[in-house]
Amino acid sequence: MIEFKRINLLEASYPICGQLDAIFCRNVMIYFDKDTQLAILKKFAPLLRPDGLLFAGHSENFYHAAAYFKLRGQTVYERASPH
Ligand SMILES: C[S@@+](CC[C@H](N)C(=O)[O-])C[C@H]1O[C@@H](n2cnc3c(N)ncnc32)[C@H](O)[C@@H]1O
Repeated sequence: MIEFKRINLLEASYPICGQLDAIFCRNVMIYFDKDTQLAILKKFAPLLRPDGLLFAGHSENFYHAAAYFKLRGQTVYERASPH
């Protein structure tokens, strides 16, 4: 059920096939500016199932990426709309 791979989030595409139930990406995007975060979140969205969840860190917020993800709980995001 679990496959381990090393992925550089700055790459143009990721060697992953959706549909994932969840993406855990905690305290990683804090290193990137908002444009880079947006580009990453745009690639995350179609990898998730429509009801999939993105788990981030407590100091991260993705309000600027509302087109792709909306806040569901403290650090949990759901897809904003089908992609
Ligand atoms: C502060 S650590 C967080 C580790 C873990 N997720 C946690 O919450 O404890 C940041 C992580 O981001 C990873 N990271 C930094 N740049 C990355 C990139 N371009 N692609 C993938 N991971 C990256 C680092 O390797 C590091 O493991």
